[in-house]
Amino acid sequence: MPLGLDSNGTTGQNKDAVQAAANGTEQKPHNNKKIRGASKELQGLLEDASKYYPAYDCTLPTSYLKSHVQESAEKVDVEVNMYEAVKQPVEQKQEQTDDVKPVKRTKHRRRHNVKRRDTTGHDTSVKETERPMEETVQPMEEIAEPEKGTAEPMEETSEFMEETAEFADETIQSSLTSPTASTEPQNDTTVDTPAGTHAGTHSPEYTPLKNFVDWDGPMLKLEYNLFDIDFLNSTTEFTGEITPSAQLTTADREHRAKTPPIARSRHNTYNAHTGQRILLQSILFPNCTEEYIVDFSKNFDKYDPMSEIGKVVEYSALVFLPQDYAHGLTQDIIPRLNDAYDNADETAFIQTVHDYNTFIRRVPRHRITQHLRELTQIPQSFIHDFLHVVYTRSIHPQAFKLKKYKAFSNYVYGELLPTFLTDVYQRCNLNTNSVFLDLGSGVGNCVIQAALEHGCRTSAGCEIMEDASTLTELQYKELTNRCHFNGLNLKPVQFLLRQSFVDNEAVITLLRDCDVLLVNNFLFDSKLNKVVETLLENAKVGCKIISLKNLRSFGYTIDANNIDGVLNRLKVQKCTFKEDSVSWTHSGGDYYISTVQNCIDESLLQATSRFRRSKRPERYTR
Ligand SMILES: C[S@@+](CC[C@H](N)C(=O)[O-])C[C@H]1O[C@@H](n2cnc3c(N)ncnc32)[C@H](O)[C@@H]1O
Repeated sequence: MPLGLDSNGTTGQNKDAVQAAANGTEQKPHNNKKIRGASKELQGLLEDASKYYPAYDCTLPTSYLKSHVQESAEKVDVEVNMYEAVKQPVEQKQEQTDDVKPVKRTKHRRRHNVKRRDTTGHDTSVKETERPMEETVQPMEEIAEPEKGTAEPMEETSEFMEETAEFADETIQSSLTSPTASTEPQNDTTVDTPAGTHAGTHSPEYTPLKNFVDWDGPMLKLEYNLFDIDFLNSTTEFTGEITPSAQLTTADREHRAKTPPIARSRHNTYNAHTGQRILLQSILFPNCTEEYIVDFSKNFDKYDPMSEIGKVVEYSALVFLPQDYAHGLTQDIIPRLNDAYDNADETAFIQTVHDYNTFIRRVPRHRITQHLRELTQIPQSFIHDFLHVVYTRSIHPQAFKLKKYKAFSNYVYGELLPTFLTDVYQRCNLNTNSVFLDLGSGVGNCVIQAALEHGCRTSAGCEIMEDASTLTELQYKELTNRCHFNGLNLKPVQFLLRQSFVDNEAVITLLRDCDVLLVNNFLFDSKLNKVVETLLENAKVGCKIISLKNLRSFGYTIDANNIDGVLNRLKVQKCTFKEDSVSWTHSGGDYYISTVQNCIDESLLQATSRFRRSKRPERYTR
C-alpha cells in the first residue's frame, strides 16, 4: 500500500496535513514526487489521494465551520453604525401606508461592513476566557425540566393570536422608548457596550463589532414559495419532533465527563460548571420552544449553541419579521445579544433571550405570515445555516460512521459544502422545473440543498453504503420536521438507499429526465467512472453534469470504436472552486460542468485534428 493507514484510517502524511490545517498552515501534499513508470492516470490518482485528508470527515462539515479566515482589522475600522442602518428602513416604513412590504435591503444598509462571526460562533479576535462558575448563575440541575414542546408562559399565547395590527405601532414605539420592556423578571443585566453605553439604550453612536449573520452577504432570489403559507395558515400548533439543541450539548458533556482526564486535555476549559437550560420561543408556533444550554465556560469547538441562538434571533429580523417589528430587534435585542456573547456574559445573554421570547410572542402571527408571503429574497446564508442546524442534529453525533470505508476505494466519503453548491447550482441554472440527481449521495446534503434552494421538481440521490444511507434517513426526518418548524416548503425529495447506481432501473428512469446530474467522482476508480459514462448514454440533451473529475480522461480522442459515445457529445467546461468548498481540504481546486449535446463537440474534433497534425512525421522533399 503506497500510503500506510493507521487505525483511524488516516495516513501518516494526512495526519501531518491535518495537523498543519489545525495550525492554520495547510501544507502542500509532499507526496507529489513522480513515480517512475506509473501511468499518467495512476499518477493523477495518487496525487489526488494525497490531497484527500479523510480526518476532516469526522467532524463534518468541519471545513464549513473552520474559523481560519480572519477579518482584517481594517474592516473593523470602517464599520458603521448599525442604528443608522436600521433607522432608515423604519423611517421609510413609517411614511408608507399600512401595507406590509417585503424586506428590502436598502443600499444604505448593504454598504455597511458589519463584522461576522464564523459559523461556530468562534471568533479568535474575541479572547477565549476561562470563566469561573459565577455565583449568580443557577446550575442547570437546579432548574426544573421544562415540558417537551411547551412554550414558556402559555397565557401569553392567546394574546399572541389576538393582537391587532395597531399593536405593531405600539411595539415599535415601545421598542424605541423602552427597549428592555419585558413581562418576565428583569435581572440587573448591565452589559458594557463598546461605546460604553448601558445595555439596551444604544445611542446612535453604538457600533456593534460583529454579528452572528453576515448582514451584507449575498442574497438568494426566491424562485418558488419557500414558505408554506397555506400550512402556516391552516395550523398554529407544531406537532412534529425536532431534536433540541440541549440534547447535543448534554450528550457532548456526558461524553466529556466519561473521558479520562488525559484524553480530555484537549478540552482544557473543562470545569464543573454545567450551564443553564433556556427555552427559545419559536417565531411561528406559539406552543413551541427549543431547549438550549447556555454555557460560556466551555470551548464548543464543533457546535456552539449560543452562536446558533444568535443566528435564530438575527434571522428573525432579517427574514421572518416585517420591518416595523424587525426594528425592535435590530435596535435593541440583537446588539445586546452580541455584547453578551462577546463578553461571555451568561446572565446578560439569558436575559436577552428572555426579552427576545417576550418580544416574539407579542408579534401578531398574521403579520409574519403576510410578510413571508411577500418575501422575494433571503440571505443565501439562511438556507446554509438551516441545513447546518439539521446536520448538527442528525449527522454530527454519528459522523464517525462515515469514516468506515476502505481507503482509496469508491466508497471514500467526502462532501461538497453549501457555499460551493449554491454557486454551482446557479451556474447550472437549477430551477423549479429541474430534475436533480446525485449519484453517490452520501448523507443527502446535495439533494436537500437542491430541493430547498431551488424548489426542484424532483431532487434525488442514490447511495450504496449502509451507514451513509441510515444517516440520510435520520437527516431527512430532522429536515422534514424542521421545515415544518420553520414554515418551509420542502419540494419532492427521493432517495434510493442501500443500492448501487450501477444497473439500477430507477436510476436510469431518473436519468432520462434529469436536468442536473451530480457525480462527486473525486476518488472513483476508472472502472466506476466507466460505469458512469455508460449511464450517461441515458441522459437527455441539455443535461448538465457536475463532476469533480473530467468525465473525458486526459488525451481522450475520437476513434472508430467510440464515435457514437456520449463522451463525444459533451461540452466540457473546466471551473475552479474556492477554498473551503469541499470537506476534505481547505484548498481550492477544479471541477467540471459537462453539457450533453446532440452532436459531437467541435472542440474535440479540433483538438484531434491538431493532435494528428503534430504527430505526422515531417517530410523532407526537394
Ligand atoms: C465522495 S461521496 C459524495 C457525497 C455527496 N454526493 C457529496 O458530494 O457531498 C461519494 C459517495 O458515493 C457513494 N458511492 C460509491 N459508489 C457507489 C455506487 N456504485 N452506488 C451508489 N453510491 C456509491 C459512496 O458510498 C459515497 O458516499
